[in-house]
Amino acid sequence: MCSIINLDIDGCIHKLPLVCGTFDKAIDISKLRENTRFITFDPGLKNTAFTKSSISFINGENGELLYRGYPIDELVKKCSFIETSYLILNGELPNKKQLKFFSKKITKYIVLNKEIYGILNRFPESYHPMGILSSFTNILFAFINDDTSSEKEEDLYFHLLAKIPMLAALIYRKKKGLPFFKDYPTLKYNNYTYNLLKMFFSVPDRPYSINSLIIDSLDKLLTLHIDHEQNCSTTTVRLLASVRSNLFSSITAGINALWGKLHGGANQAVIEMLEIILKDGGNVKKWINKAKNKKDPFRLMGFGHRIYKNFDPRSKIAKCLAEYLILKLNISDPILELAKELEKHALKDSYFFDKKIYPNIDFYSGIIYQAIGIPKDMFTVMFVLGRLPGWIAHWKEIKNNIDPIGRPRQIYIGSKKRYIS
Ligand code: SDX
Repeated sequence: MCSIINLDIDGCIHKLPLVCGTFDKAIDISKLRENTRFITFDPGLKNTAFTKSSISFINGENGELLYRGYPIDELVKKCSFIETSYLILNGELPNKKQLKFFSKKITKYIVLNKEIYGILNRFPESYHPMGILSSFTNILFAFINDDTSSEKEEDLYFHLLAKIPMLAALIYRKKKGLPFFKDYPTLKYNNYTYNLLKMFFSVPDRPYSINSLIIDSLDKLLTLHIDHEQNCSTTTVRLLASVRSNLFSSITAGINALWGKLHGGANQAVIEMLEIILKDGGNVKKWINKAKNKKDPFRLMGFGHRIYKNFDPRSKIAKCLAEYLILKLNISDPILELAKELEKHALKDSYFFDKKIYPNIDFYSGIIYQAIGIPKDMFTVMFVLGRLPGWIAHWKEIKNNIDPIGRPRQIYIGSKKRYIS
């Protein structure tokens, strides 16, 4: 049963109600300033819930992640990325009929307006794929709105779920100098990840086939990325939804937030870090000491997490996926060997152990993408493909349960009031 707590400010007792969630409680401070003139200070919002959500839940101490109540390891074992995307968006797992309809709609909306190809060709080669993807996500809305202004909102979700993977594949093909498709690849409506790989890697005039282990590994990895409570990019999407920005501009903002090196950009930063260590002779102890040195800005990319003070459950699964894929594909890559060496030494080091710093999902995801043949500057684009259903679900949740607009306070530390002399 929820109760209240007493806050004693200069001998005056203020009663603050508690808010009860499914698993945890919070102190409701929504009337704090009104009643006490005080606000709270919580840099990085480490201790602050700014919303309620029923989409995912993380137990950081136990290393547990639930999507709509289902443990992530159960979903990865028993469901596909598309089935889990349906769950995240609709709250329940789909039956056969619902899954078929959901998958067909995604395949139906894959067609891009022909002008997109021309615009894509005009982007400079050097521009990062995440910059191109976020630009195109906004541009997409212009074409969809023109074509079918009566578009029901629900269909806009499918436009994104269908077109963003297509855009990702075109960005990859442009980088690799591969031709765009002469005609749309014949897609299997019930295998999103097969279609994705085919859009990336198929070459003209040659039948496309790919090892089913690669399809299965990528499908599981995409599922691991679908949602993760109020991470920086998801909170960004919710903030835009709270001021009623349209879905496409909200997702564009999410893509740009995810690009950050300390967030989704870490999967690319992990491989770049390993390449530097390798080039420097592979002395992992030297680099671990650099990461521990307060005066050194170097951090171990792919290590640490704001919420998990135990192993990230996704990392455990991603680690097994990476090891199995490398073994079965008989891949020998010094970068992958170095990653194992670094992990082994860091996990034994008391600095990381005492601060509860473990490898996060970005440490292993880059290894899998690399093994599949995806270039490192496309790793965060792959993260977008996984996280997209989660972002849409959060945008939808705000639309249906009206949150006040996100507008935090601040502690002002600037000049006192002064006048121009
Ligand atoms: C993702 O939020 C999410 O859920 C994100 C994500 C998702 O699914 O959306 O899980 C995806 O973004 C994973 C994180 C990817 N980023 C990285 O791998 C970058 C490297 N990691 C660090 O930058 C850091 O661990 C963060 C940013 C992930 C978390 O930082 P916090 O929670 O703000 O912790 P902190 O920076 O305050 O660190 C606490 C202490 C500090 O030491 P002290 O000042 O207390 O002495 O731990 C140290 C830090 O210096 N520390 C590290 C470290 N991470 C934390 N020291 C060396 N190497 C590291 N990686």
